[in-house]
Amino acid sequence: MSDSILNENNQNKKPSHVAIIMDGNGRWAKMRGLPRYEGHKQGLKTLRKLLREVNNYEIDYLTLFSFSIDNWKRPKSETAKLMDLLRKFILNDLSELHKNNVRVRIIGSRENIPKSIINLIDSAEALTINNKGLYLQIAFNYSGRDEILNAVKNIGKSISVGIIDPVKINQEIFESYLFTSGVPDPDLIIRSGSEKRISNFLLWQLSYAEVYFEECLWPDFDKGNLDNAIKDFMERSRRYGNVISEIN
Ligand code: FPP
Repeated sequence: MSDSILNENNQNKKPSHVAIIMDGNGRWAKMRGLPRYEGHKQGLKTLRKLLREVNNYEIDYLTLFSFSIDNWKRPKSETAKLMDLLRKFILNDLSELHKNNVRVRIIGSRENIPKSIINLIDSAEALTINNKGLYLQIAFNYSGRDEILNAVKNIGKSISVGIIDPVKINQEIFESYLFTSGVPDPDLIIRSGSEKRISNFLLWQLSYAEVYFEECLWPDFDKGNLDNAIKDFMERSRRYGNVISEIN
Protein backbone atom coordinates (compact mmCIF):
# COMPACT_ATOMS: atom_id res chain seq x y z
CA MET A 1 0.00 0.00 0.00
CA SER A 2 3.09 2.27 -0.29
CA ASP A 3 1.67 4.38 -3.13
CA SER A 4 -1.66 4.72 -1.42
CA ILE A 5 -3.27 7.71 0.26
CA LEU A 6 -4.93 5.26 2.66
CA ASN A 7 -3.59 4.77 6.16
CA GLU A 8 -4.88 3.25 9.39
CA ASN A 9 -6.61 6.51 10.36
CA ASN A 10 -8.66 7.00 7.22
CA GLN A 11 -9.09 3.50 5.86
CA ASN A 12 -12.61 3.06 7.19
CA LYS A 13 -13.64 6.26 5.40
CA LYS A 14 -12.62 5.12 1.92
CA PRO A 15 -15.30 4.72 -0.74
CA SER A 16 -16.26 1.14 -1.51
CA HIS A 17 -17.89 1.96 -4.83
CA VAL A 18 -16.60 4.69 -7.15
CA ALA A 19 -18.37 5.65 -10.37
CA ILE A 20 -16.75 7.79 -13.06
CA ILE A 21 -18.11 9.83 -15.96
CA MET A 22 -15.08 9.95 -18.24
CA ASP A 23 -15.83 13.22 -20.01
CA GLY A 24 -13.68 15.50 -22.15
CA ASN A 25 -12.20 13.20 -24.80
CA GLY A 26 -13.61 15.21 -27.70
CA ARG A 27 -12.30 18.53 -26.38
CA TRP A 28 -8.90 16.97 -25.66
CA ALA A 29 -8.66 15.91 -29.31
CA LYS A 30 -10.01 19.21 -30.67
CA MET A 31 -7.42 21.19 -28.69
CA ARG A 32 -4.76 19.20 -30.55
CA GLY A 33 -6.38 19.48 -33.98
CA LEU A 34 -7.11 15.74 -33.94
CA PRO A 35 -10.31 13.85 -34.80
CA ARG A 36 -12.57 13.16 -31.81
CA TYR A 37 -11.85 9.42 -31.83
CA GLU A 38 -8.19 10.16 -31.03
CA GLY A 39 -9.51 11.60 -27.77
CA HIS A 40 -11.43 8.41 -27.07
CA LYS A 41 -8.34 6.31 -27.88
CA GLN A 42 -6.33 8.39 -25.44
CA GLY A 43 -9.20 8.05 -22.96
CA LEU A 44 -8.88 4.28 -23.15
CA LYS A 45 -5.15 4.58 -22.38
CA THR A 46 -6.02 6.68 -19.32
CA LEU A 47 -8.50 4.04 -18.25
CA ARG A 48 -5.89 1.28 -18.56
CA LYS A 49 -3.47 3.21 -16.34
CA LEU A 50 -6.22 3.84 -13.81
CA LEU A 51 -7.14 0.16 -13.67
CA ARG A 52 -3.52 -0.62 -12.78
CA GLU A 53 -3.57 1.98 -9.96
CA VAL A 54 -6.94 1.16 -8.52
CA ASN A 55 -5.62 -1.58 -6.22
CA ASN A 56 -3.93 1.10 -4.13
CA TYR A 57 -7.29 2.53 -3.12
CA GLU A 58 -8.88 -0.75 -2.03
CA ILE A 59 -12.03 0.09 -3.96
CA ASP A 60 -14.45 -2.83 -4.19
CA TYR A 61 -16.59 -1.63 -7.10
CA LEU A 62 -15.74 0.68 -10.00
CA THR A 63 -18.41 1.75 -12.50
CA LEU A 64 -17.40 3.60 -15.67
CA PHE A 65 -19.65 5.41 -18.13
CA SER A 66 -18.18 4.52 -21.51
CA PHE A 67 -21.10 4.86 -23.94
CA SER A 68 -24.48 6.46 -23.37
CA ILE A 69 -27.59 5.54 -25.36
CA ASP A 70 -27.76 9.29 -25.96
CA ASN A 71 -24.38 9.05 -27.75
CA TRP A 72 -26.15 7.45 -30.74
CA LYS A 73 -26.98 11.06 -31.73
CA ARG A 74 -23.29 11.45 -32.66
CA PRO A 75 -21.94 10.89 -36.19
CA LYS A 76 -21.81 7.23 -37.21
CA SER A 77 -18.04 7.43 -37.65
CA GLU A 78 -17.69 8.27 -33.93
CA THR A 79 -20.18 5.69 -32.61
CA ALA A 80 -18.49 3.00 -34.73
CA LYS A 81 -15.13 3.93 -33.16
CA LEU A 82 -16.61 3.75 -29.67
CA MET A 83 -17.95 0.25 -30.44
CA ASP A 84 -14.52 -0.67 -31.70
CA LEU A 85 -12.87 0.60 -28.53
CA LEU A 86 -14.98 -1.73 -26.39
CA ARG A 87 -14.02 -4.59 -28.72
CA LYS A 88 -10.31 -3.67 -28.38
CA PHE A 89 -10.63 -3.26 -24.62
CA ILE A 90 -12.05 -6.76 -24.21
CA LEU A 91 -9.65 -8.38 -26.69
CA ASN A 92 -6.50 -6.68 -25.34
CA ASP A 93 -7.16 -6.13 -21.67
CA LEU A 94 -9.41 -8.91 -20.47
CA SER A 95 -6.67 -11.46 -19.80
CA GLU A 96 -4.76 -9.02 -17.54
CA LEU A 97 -7.97 -8.12 -15.71
CA HIS A 98 -8.81 -11.79 -15.26
CA LYS A 99 -5.29 -12.50 -13.99
CA ASN A 100 -5.80 -9.72 -11.45
CA ASN A 101 -9.02 -11.35 -10.25
CA VAL A 102 -11.24 -8.54 -11.63
CA ARG A 103 -14.88 -9.37 -12.27
CA VAL A 104 -16.15 -7.61 -15.40
CA ARG A 105 -19.78 -6.77 -16.02
CA ILE A 106 -21.09 -4.67 -18.90
CA ILE A 107 -24.33 -2.90 -17.96
CA GLY A 108 -26.76 -1.36 -20.43
CA SER A 109 -28.98 -2.29 -23.34
CA ARG A 110 -27.84 -4.87 -25.90
CA GLU A 111 -30.02 -3.21 -28.57
CA ASN A 112 -28.09 -1.85 -31.60
CA ILE A 113 -24.80 -3.39 -30.45
CA PRO A 114 -23.21 -5.57 -33.15
CA LYS A 115 -23.62 -9.31 -32.46
CA SER A 116 -19.85 -9.86 -32.49
CA ILE A 117 -19.48 -7.38 -29.61
CA ILE A 118 -22.38 -8.93 -27.69
CA ASN A 119 -20.57 -12.28 -27.94
CA LEU A 120 -17.37 -10.69 -26.60
CA ILE A 121 -19.30 -9.08 -23.72
CA ASP A 122 -20.91 -12.41 -22.84
CA SER A 123 -17.60 -14.24 -22.87
CA ALA A 124 -15.88 -11.53 -20.78
CA GLU A 125 -18.63 -11.76 -18.17
CA ALA A 126 -18.58 -15.56 -18.18
CA LEU A 127 -14.78 -15.76 -17.88
CA THR A 128 -14.63 -13.46 -14.86
CA ILE A 129 -17.89 -14.38 -13.11
CA ASN A 130 -16.18 -16.09 -10.16
CA ASN A 131 -13.45 -13.47 -9.66
CA LYS A 132 -13.49 -11.93 -6.20
CA GLY A 133 -11.24 -8.89 -6.69
CA LEU A 134 -12.38 -5.53 -8.07
CA TYR A 135 -15.93 -5.61 -9.47
CA LEU A 136 -15.72 -3.56 -12.65
CA GLN A 137 -18.97 -2.39 -14.22
CA ILE A 138 -18.75 -0.79 -17.62
CA ALA A 139 -21.86 1.14 -18.56
CA PHE A 140 -22.06 0.71 -22.31
CA ASN A 141 -25.15 1.63 -24.36
CA TYR A 142 -26.51 2.71 -21.00
CA SER A 143 -29.13 5.24 -19.93
CA GLY A 144 -30.36 5.66 -16.37
CA ARG A 145 -33.91 6.42 -17.46
CA ASP A 146 -34.00 3.40 -19.78
CA GLU A 147 -32.67 1.20 -17.00
CA ILE A 148 -35.53 2.32 -14.74
CA LEU A 149 -38.12 1.84 -17.52
CA ASN A 150 -36.71 -1.59 -18.28
CA ALA A 151 -37.04 -2.52 -14.59
CA VAL A 152 -40.64 -1.26 -14.51
CA LYS A 153 -41.54 -3.33 -17.61
CA ASN A 154 -39.98 -6.47 -16.14
CA ILE A 155 -41.68 -5.92 -12.79
CA GLY A 156 -44.97 -5.58 -14.75
CA LYS A 157 -44.26 -8.95 -16.40
CA SER A 158 -43.51 -10.54 -13.03
CA ILE A 159 -46.77 -9.17 -11.63
CA SER A 160 -48.74 -10.48 -14.61
CA VAL A 161 -47.44 -14.02 -14.08
CA GLY A 162 -47.94 -13.82 -10.32
CA ILE A 163 -44.25 -13.86 -9.29
CA ILE A 164 -44.58 -10.66 -7.26
CA ASP A 165 -47.39 -9.00 -5.41
CA PRO A 166 -47.50 -5.28 -6.39
CA VAL A 167 -48.36 -4.28 -2.82
CA LYS A 168 -45.10 -5.84 -1.61
CA ILE A 169 -42.79 -3.98 -4.03
CA ASN A 170 -40.12 -2.15 -2.06
CA GLN A 171 -36.71 -0.62 -2.85
CA GLU A 172 -34.93 -3.94 -2.51
CA ILE A 173 -37.24 -5.69 -4.97
CA PHE A 174 -37.06 -2.76 -7.39
CA GLU A 175 -33.24 -2.77 -7.27
CA SER A 176 -33.15 -6.46 -8.10
CA TYR A 177 -34.61 -5.52 -11.51
CA LEU A 178 -31.90 -2.96 -12.31
CA PHE A 179 -28.80 -3.81 -14.38
CA THR A 180 -26.77 -3.20 -11.22
CA SER A 181 -28.66 -5.84 -9.24
CA GLY A 182 -26.54 -7.13 -6.35
CA VAL A 183 -24.11 -4.20 -6.46
CA PRO A 184 -24.26 -1.58 -3.69
CA ASP A 185 -24.88 2.05 -4.66
CA PRO A 186 -21.86 4.23 -5.52
CA ASP A 187 -20.40 6.18 -2.61
CA LEU A 188 -18.55 8.62 -4.85
CA ILE A 189 -19.20 9.79 -8.39
CA ILE A 190 -16.40 11.60 -10.20
CA ARG A 191 -16.94 13.52 -13.43
CA SER A 192 -13.95 14.82 -15.37
CA GLY A 193 -14.06 17.48 -18.06
CA SER A 194 -15.43 20.42 -16.02
CA GLU A 195 -19.15 19.97 -16.85
CA LYS A 196 -21.35 19.78 -13.77
CA ARG A 197 -24.12 17.33 -14.53
CA ILE A 198 -25.03 13.67 -14.16
CA SER A 199 -26.03 13.02 -17.81
CA ASN A 200 -28.50 10.17 -17.29
CA PHE A 201 -26.00 8.02 -15.36
CA LEU A 202 -27.13 5.68 -12.54
CA LEU A 203 -30.15 7.85 -11.74
CA TRP A 204 -31.57 5.53 -9.10
CA GLN A 205 -28.26 4.44 -7.64
CA LEU A 206 -26.70 7.89 -7.13
CA SER A 207 -29.30 9.02 -4.55
CA TYR A 208 -26.76 9.45 -1.77
CA ALA A 209 -23.49 9.46 -3.70
CA GLU A 210 -20.99 12.20 -3.01
CA VAL A 211 -20.39 14.14 -6.22
CA TYR A 212 -16.92 15.31 -7.26
CA PHE A 213 -16.32 17.40 -10.37
CA GLU A 214 -12.81 17.42 -11.82
CA GLU A 215 -11.77 20.17 -14.22
CA CYS A 216 -9.26 18.16 -16.22
CA LEU A 217 -10.28 16.40 -19.42
CA TRP A 218 -10.48 12.62 -19.15
CA PRO A 219 -7.38 11.81 -21.25
CA ASP A 220 -5.35 13.94 -18.78
CA PHE A 221 -6.88 12.37 -15.67
CA ASP A 222 -4.20 10.70 -13.55
CA LYS A 223 -3.45 9.24 -10.13
CA GLY A 224 -3.15 12.74 -8.61
CA ASN A 225 -6.70 13.55 -9.72
CA LEU A 226 -8.00 10.30 -8.25
CA ASP A 227 -6.09 10.96 -5.00
CA ASN A 228 -7.73 14.38 -4.75
CA ALA A 229 -11.23 13.02 -5.35
CA ILE A 230 -10.82 10.28 -2.75
CA LYS A 231 -9.20 12.59 -0.17
CA ASP A 232 -12.06 15.03 -0.68
CA PHE A 233 -14.57 12.21 -0.21
CA MET A 234 -12.92 11.05 3.01
CA GLU A 235 -13.29 14.53 4.51
CA ARG A 236 -17.02 14.72 3.87
CA SER A 237 -19.75 14.07 6.38
CA ARG A 238 -22.38 11.66 5.04
CA ARG A 239 -25.71 11.93 6.79
CA TYR A 240 -28.27 10.27 4.49
CA GLY A 241 -30.92 12.72 5.66
CA ASN A 242 -30.03 12.19 9.32
CA VAL A 243 -28.44 14.76 11.64
CA ILE A 244 -25.61 12.58 12.95
CA SER A 245 -22.26 13.75 11.63
CA GLU A 246 -20.80 10.46 10.53
CA ILE A 247 -18.91 9.28 7.50
CA ASN A 248 -19.86 5.86 6.05
C1 FPP B 1 -17.23 11.50 -23.22
O1 FPP B 1 -16.36 12.44 -23.81
C2 FPP B 1 -16.67 10.17 -23.38
C3 FPP B 1 -17.26 9.18 -24.11
C4 FPP B 1 -18.55 9.36 -24.79
C5 FPP B 1 -16.59 7.86 -24.29
C6 FPP B 1 -15.74 7.39 -23.16
C7 FPP B 1 -14.87 6.30 -23.64
C8 FPP B 1 -13.61 6.05 -23.21
C9 FPP B 1 -12.96 6.79 -22.13
C10 FPP B 1 -12.78 4.99 -23.81
C11 FPP B 1 -13.46 3.72 -24.08
C12 FPP B 1 -13.55 2.82 -22.94
C13 FPP B 1 -14.09 1.59 -23.02
C14 FPP B 1 -14.11 0.71 -21.84
C15 FPP B 1 -14.65 1.08 -24.27
P1 FPP B 1 -16.91 13.39 -24.94
O2 FPP B 1 -16.68 12.77 -26.25
O3 FPP B 1 -18.34 13.74 -24.69
O4 FPP B 1 -15.99 14.65 -24.74
P2 FPP B 1 -16.37 16.17 -24.98
O5 FPP B 1 -17.35 16.55 -23.90
O6 FPP B 1 -15.05 16.85 -24.81
O7 FPP B 1 -16.93 16.29 -26.37
